[in-house]
Amino acid sequence: MSEQQHRNKSGFETRAIHAGYEPDPMTGSVIPPIYATSTYKQDGVGGLRGGYEYSRSANPTRTALEGNLAALEEGERAFAFASGLAAEHTLVRALCQPGDHVVLPDDAYGGTFRLFDKVEQAWGLEHSAAPVSDVEAVRDAIRPGQTRLVWLETPTNPVLNIGDIEALAAVAHDAGALLVVDNTFASPYLQQPLILGADVVVHSTTKYAGGHSDVVGGALVVRDLELAERLTFHQNAIGAVAGPFDAWLVLRGLKTLGVRMDRHCDNAEQVVDFLTGHPAISQVIYPGLEEHPGHEVASRQMKRYGGMVSFRAAGGEAAALGVCERTEVFTLGESLGGVESLIEHPARMTHASVAGTALEVTADLVRLSVGIETVEDLLADLDHALAG
Ligand SMILES: Cc1ncc(COP(=O)(O)O)c(C=O)c1O
Repeated sequence: MSEQQHRNKSGFETRAIHAGYEPDPMTGSVIPPIYATSTYKQDGVGGLRGGYEYSRSANPTRTALEGNLAALEEGERAFAFASGLAAEHTLVRALCQPGDHVVLPDDAYGGTFRLFDKVEQAWGLEHSAAPVSDVEAVRDAIRPGQTRLVWLETPTNPVLNIGDIEALAAVAHDAGALLVVDNTFASPYLQQPLILGADVVVHSTTKYAGGHSDVVGGALVVRDLELAERLTFHQNAIGAVAGPFDAWLVLRGLKTLGVRMDRHCDNAEQVVDFLTGHPAISQVIYPGLEEHPGHEVASRQMKRYGGMVSFRAAGGEAAALGVCERTEVFTLGESLGGVESLIEHPARMTHASVAGTALEVTADLVRLSVGIETVEDLLADLDHALAG
């Protein structure tokens, strides 16, 4: 089956395993080689083989990953970067000018906020924040004629708020802006923003896409070919590209994304059941819970509710820190989306950079990235840690 047929007709897992690469015609290699090369022999001046000239511009291992990601997100083109933030920075420079304005989630990932607040703002790009769950608040935050991007994370990091992708795409488009969706938490297995009207999908492929906590990477995916052309230029001009080994690791991870995500979701649902009503916990936050304010929207736009669970410790900051220090199967660490379960204290760890800003998170909050270990071991670990 040709790549195009895979894209158009195949199921998600088939695309995850096959899209982006045909077995090598010379050797039959089923898996793309790691093309550890910076340059390519030309057949006469300008006689490029397959368009390859220099590995900042393109590298066949990266091309395979980019083809795969485009197929999974049902986009036309994908671009792989050295990190999620490298992808975000390239996107901003490709689509914005000094004097433009961006609407950010009021609970954006801390590193995204820092990028806009400390780096892009110094270049002249303004930003303001609105809650992703409030379509009218996002509309009010838009400055007609100045707002170029509406930036959405859904679910958000770390409080798992849900934004209505379809509604926010309409709000952005009404104002002549583009909707960017950071799809890191859901992954394309659970949610495909381009189908719902988003213009650009952003990934930290470090997370569920890579899935094994062994690589840092990022990606952008688009449908519009004019946007793709600008991104092609800026990916090369800025040069924050994924190296071939990193691209290979992310591609390997994507092949099992579907089965991993189902297990992440299964385990997260059991963790949520266990935590709900526990005396040491004042609130469990998970979009799969009926009482979650974004439950209805999440049910509409997500296949399942994901592997991220947050909770607030009834005993406040000290209790939250204590739980983070006592777990043994849940490893205390930043990041998320790997096969292993992680626990962290956002206020002091991933979100320390937003302390003192409107995006500050409460100190009683604990975030879990529920992995795919044996679920009984995860529940026993939490039971022990919460007992103190
Ligand atoms: C939702 C989200 N977006 C973007 C990023 C940034 O990605 P990276 O760390 O790969 O630069 C992260 C990192 O944690 C994230 O959680």
